Amino acid sequence: MPNTDPQVVQGISDKDFKVLSDFIEKTIGIKISPSKKVMIQSRLFHRLKNLNFTDYKQYIDYVLNSSNAEEELVLMINAITTNKTDFFRETDHFRFMEQVVLPDFVLKQKKNIKIWSAGCSSGEEPYTISMVMEEFCSKNPGKISNYKITGTDISTKVLDKAYHAVYPMETVESLDLSLKKKYFKKNTEKRLVIVKENVRSHVAYKRLNFMDDDFSMSEIYDIIFCRNVLIYFNKETQENVIRKFLRYLAPDGYLFLGHSETILSMDLPLKSCAPAVYRRI
Ligand SMILES: C[S@@+](CC[C@H](N)C(=O)[O-])C[C@H]1O[C@@H](n2cnc3c(N)ncnc32)[C@H](O)[C@@H]1O
Repeated sequence: MPNTDPQVVQGISDKDFKVLSDFIEKTIGIKISPSKKVMIQSRLFHRLKNLNFTDYKQYIDYVLNSSNAEEELVLMINAITTNKTDFFRETDHFRFMEQVVLPDFVLKQKKNIKIWSAGCSSGEEPYTISMVMEEFCSKNPGKISNYKITGTDISTKVLDKAYHAVYPMETVESLDLSLKKKYFKKNTEKRLVIVKENVRSHVAYKRLNFMDDDFSMSEIYDIIFCRNVLIYFNKETQENVIRKFLRYLAPDGYLFLGHSETILSMDLPLKSCAPAVYRRI
């Protein structure tokens, strides 16, 4: 909870909250409504304490106006972003990938598959994709020669977690036993699992802000997953970000969005082929 420390007396005023939320929207696209003020105070409380500030105004002035606050800006973004994710989240997407997308690539004799998990959070999504690829390759030997998955996120905190690939045991509880055996090592004492090398070795991570004009990605991807990220942006920003994705999506490539995200009202060269799955036309 915010302001439980007797030394921190001032919450964020409405005026400072507007300055902060405008800055966040401009910098990382995330739109924060005034109803989220208490949540934002709570998320920034530890940052404030860490720098020995006693009110939020001092902290906001420092991050927004100081020329040497670059590092704090990264930490503030880490604190503000919502990183909820799961292995096999919105699982019908992975069924569609296995039953429709990958057989389509095989039919076209596409041997090297490149996949981008954009807004990958702590790695559960890219590792799920890698498990789906491993399963498909073992059931269809020789059909796919190689696959590469790139995971990107703006938060350095979740990227670090993704890179280390260590998760609480409960996060894999609902997975099939055979998947757990093939793709995770257990540390029973610490109640942790670590993703095995057969899945990890296909995944690389990079920090990327969707607000950047140039994503500086060197690959063209056959599939882009950008799920449960656009929901935090306004419509115009959503469309701009998708147009940037299109620069990196192969002709006939697939774009997976979150189930609560839609682009149907946007004039984009994409056609819907399953719930929240689009194909480039
Ligand atoms: C709710 S998580 C979704 C994770 C995963 N895609 C899933 O569906 O389970 C959203 C992620 O988007 C990232 N994100 C938010 N704004 C971003 C931006 N401007 N550029 C890149 N990543 C961003 C957040 O850091 C967060 O990890």
